[in-house]
Amino acid sequence: MKRSIRIGVVTAWPEDDWHSRQMLSALGRRAEALAIDPAALSANVAGGTTETAAAGRALLDVDAFVLVRGLGRAGDPDVQFEIYRALEGGGAVVMNRIEPLLAAQDKFRSSWLLARAGVPTPAAAVAQSPEDAERALADLGEAVMKPLAGSLGEGVVRVRPDAAGRRAVGERAARDGALYLQEYVPHPGRDLRVFVVGRETRAAIVRHAPPGDWRTNVAVGGRADAADCPATAKAVAEAAAAALGLDYAGVDLVLGPAGPTVIEVNGNPSWRGILDATGLDMAEAIADHVLGRALRRRLSSAHIVRERTGATHG
Ligand SMILES: Nc1ncnc2c1ncn2[C@@H]1O[C@H](COP(=O)(O)OP(=O)(O)O)[C@@H](O)[C@H]1O
Ligand SMILES: [Mg+2]
Repeated sequence: MKRSIRIGVVTAWPEDDWHSRQMLSALGRRAEALAIDPAALSANVAGGTTETAAAGRALLDVDAFVLVRGLGRAGDPDVQFEIYRALEGGGAVVMNRIEPLLAAQDKFRSSWLLARAGVPTPAAAVAQSPEDAERALADLGEAVMKPLAGSLGEGVVRVRPDAAGRRAVGERAARDGALYLQEYVPHPGRDLRVFVVGRETRAAIVRHAPPGDWRTNVAVGGRADAADCPATAKAVAEAAAAALGLDYAGVDLVLGPAGPTVIEVNGNPSWRGILDATGLDMAEAIADHVLGRALRRRLSSAHIVRERTGATHG
């Protein structure tokens, strides 16, 4: 008996959140899509297996999960993350996977994973004391100080290796307990956001910083337009998503003097700005990708069952 592919969209806001609605309708056109509230998840470990449920409904027959808003407004985030790990560990398709998501959220981890994979990314440093922060600034020269896990351009500050810069990094290290610094890459007030799905570039926009700022985040007043993405930037963005292990990602690139370099990788990227600027709907691309993975998994597990039972026809 074949049943249709069933895909869970993990979100606490299936109606109020635009991305959740988009994902549910894109998936609903291809498969059976159900909204799963992260705070409604539970699990039982018994008899050598782990069974996961959402609001008491077993999730055994759900082929894949898309974590659109993976942390709920209620419940416990650590439990929710662990349930996604258990789902992955049990062989379900989970997208994005938890470890890559956490890697993308952590700017230091992103830096070293990208560097190790040979993906161009600015020199960076972490320090836990004001002295080390000052030393790192002296090494890097003109730099950008950022929260280790931040977004929307919040707390992103340019610092120079002078007295004011030393004071700024020292104070941030003392206040937060740790500091992340990235070499400043000169750019003409614009950068690229490249959307990668399934190892392929699907869309790109150029983001312009608002007057008087050098940050291009739409949240600080940046403006976005459709962009022709140079082949080198596509290749770098695709390599960045692969280095972190993300099924889909928004990769921020600056076209610096030495070519494209990855400023940061977003593992839970918005696709609203991309849709507005390009008309390309990343929900469709993600839905195609997750469906492909779910179908391949279905085929490979059918193959395993056939081998185990000695059956030759399905
Ligand atoms: N190393 C850098 N060199 C030049 N500009 C940068 C650098 N790092 C960040 N920026 C600018 O600041 C913006 C916000 O930084 P980012 O690392 O993307 O943090 P966030 O997670 O808050 O978006 C970027 O989109 C870019 O325009
Ligand atoms: Mg950013």
